[in-house]
Amino acid sequence: MIEYLIELIKKALDEVHAAHDLPGVEEIRVRYLSKKGEVSLMMGKLRDLPQEERPAFGQKVNEAKEQIEHALYVKKQALEEAELLKTLEQEKIDVTLPGYQFYQGSIHPLNQVIEDVEDLFVGLGYEVAEGPEVENDHYNFEMMNLAKDHPARAMQDSFYIDENTLLRTHTSPVQARTMLLKKGEPLRIICPGKVYRRDDDDPTHSHQFMQIEGLVIDQNISFANLKDALLKMIRHLFGEDRVIRLRPSYFPFTEPSVEVDVSYVKKDGSLGYIEVLGAGRVHPNVLKMGGYDPLKFQGFAFGIGVERIAILKYNIDDIRHFYTNDIRFLSQFKGVNR
Ligand code: PHE
Repeated sequence: MIEYLIELIKKALDEVHAAHDLPGVEEIRVRYLSKKGEVSLMMGKLRDLPQEERPAFGQKVNEAKEQIEHALYVKKQALEEAELLKTLEQEKIDVTLPGYQFYQGSIHPLNQVIEDVEDLFVGLGYEVAEGPEVENDHYNFEMMNLAKDHPARAMQDSFYIDENTLLRTHTSPVQARTMLLKKGEPLRIICPGKVYRRDDDDPTHSHQFMQIEGLVIDQNISFANLKDALLKMIRHLFGEDRVIRLRPSYFPFTEPSVEVDVSYVKKDGSLGYIEVLGAGRVHPNVLKMGGYDPLKFQGFAFGIGVERIAILKYNIDDIRHFYTNDIRFLSQFKGVNR
């Protein structure tokens, strides 16, 4: 029996040695080591042996099992390694192949203008404030000195949600909200955001657009401070060679009020002016409603159209380009400001 066992081990080891793939190795394992495999059958033969020979024989069978298991393990490792090497050999990566093109988005031109203006004013000590686009009539109009029956409301026809709620027609309600928040403390803010007015869309009109509001309230604020802030902003946006022109105008929330024009050089070399924003000294009624004593505090405010700036800066022929998400348009503004 021992001789048979030795023969069996030799045969198994030879077969393992000769195996040339993983399924072959598995087949050998099943044939020798599974429950009904040849080595296990040898265990069954124990019963045929005299009692005293059984432990020694049992041990030999176990040794045979371990020997074959070990041989299978070594062979399996070798085959797996060979297979891996073969795959690596076949799957050589060609690092010289061109890569896939990766499309990168860019900051929307309107947001570029906003960030640019914010950068300037934050550097001058202003805070950035925001307010809701769905606004109360109270903040949008009344606190801006436009009572319910005020005729100037007609200049800013809006989208009403109900009697007292509308899509804000300008960023000026953020003035009122911030004044109440600051509770009589001096303030300097800049408020960018979307505004809405009922309008038929065409190359120069949009029912939705963006504004940046500026508001300063402090003691000893004069019209000269307003002019200085406006000139700084215009030169920051359009270049140091620009000048501004102020024309008398009317807004219910400022007194006196001005319309601000920026200079440009016409084709024939002469100087022209284009209107870019409205501004003025904060009306005493607005100060009062916001909790400031108009005898102690003065202020100035301005409101500038973001599309207007972008159109002039980048020579854009149709305001609707800003809202139609055409990548051919948007991708032209990659890194314009940075
Ligand atoms: N709110 C005004 C508008 O939308 C602009 C403005 C703001 C004018 C602040 C003066 C002061 O037309």
